[in-house]
Amino acid sequence: VTARTPLMAGNWKMNFNHLQSIAFVQKLAWTLKDVQHDFEQVEVAVFPPFTDIRSVQTIIQADKLELEYGAQDLSQHDSGAYTGDISGEFIRTLGARYALVGHSERRTIHGEDDEICRAKVNAALRHELVPVLCVGESLEEREASANPADVSIKQLKAGLADVTPGTEIVIAYEPVWAIGTGQVATAEQAQEVCAALRGALAEQLGEETAAATRILYGGSVKPGNVASIMREPDIDGALIGGASLSIEDFSSIIRYRS
Ligand code: G3P
Repeated sequence: VTARTPLMAGNWKMNFNHLQSIAFVQKLAWTLKDVQHDFEQVEVAVFPPFTDIRSVQTIIQADKLELEYGAQDLSQHDSGAYTGDISGEFIRTLGARYALVGHSERRTIHGEDDEICRAKVNAALRHELVPVLCVGESLEEREASANPADVSIKQLKAGLADVTPGTEIVIAYEPVWAIGTGQVATAEQAQEVCAALRGALAEQLGEETAAATRILYGGSVKPGNVASIMREPDIDGALIGGASLSIEDFSSIIRYRS
C-alpha cells in the first residue's frame, strides 16, 4: 500500500490582497502548530493570488511554518511577449511547490481547453512545480453522459498526455455543479469518479504511479462534510474555495480527523 499524505489545499481565488494574506497566514500559524503536533500526516497548502505569493513566502520563512503554497495558474510559455502572464519559473523562484492547472473557472471564463492544460502541465513540470490538474463535469455533462466520470477522464488523459510514469502530479476532481453552490457531491459520488480517475491514471502512467498520486475532491467542502469525504478510499484531500477564506472553517477542515 502506498502512503498518500492527505493534502488540504485552500484556493483563495481572487480574494485577499497581500496585506490580508499576511494577516490570514499569521492566524493560520496557530492551527498549523497544533496540526503539526497532533496530525503530522496532513499537508496544508494555500493558493494565493500571484500578487500575494511573495508575502506568503516571507511569513512562512519567518515563522518556519509547515505550509506549502502554489499559484492558481501559470503561463504555458517560459518567457517573452506574453503581457500579463506569469511563468512557471517566476513562481518556482518564489519557493512555491504547486501550480493549479485547468481550474474550471480558467476553463470556462478564460477558454482554457485541454490542449492549453496539457501545455501548462508541461510548463509546471519544466520548472519543478507539481501541477494540480483540475478536472470535472458540468451539470449538463453529468446528465448527458452514461458515466459521470467520462468528462473528467477525458480531461485527465489530455492534460497528462506528455507526463511520464513516476512524475509527481496531483489531480483535483471538482464537479462544476458543486463549486461555490453549496451543493456538495455526496461522498459516494465523489468516490465513484475519483476511483475511475485512479483507474485512468493506472492505464496512462502505470499502477505504481496511480497508487502514489493524490486525488483531491473540490466543490463546497466545509467543516461539516470534509470527514465523510475523506473517509473514501480514493480521495486523498480537498481543494477548498469559499471555506478556505475563513480561518475558523479552514482550521476545522484541516483538523478533520479530530
Ligand atoms: O478550487 C476550489 C473550488 O473551486 C471549490 O470552491 O467555494 O465550492 O469550495 P468552493
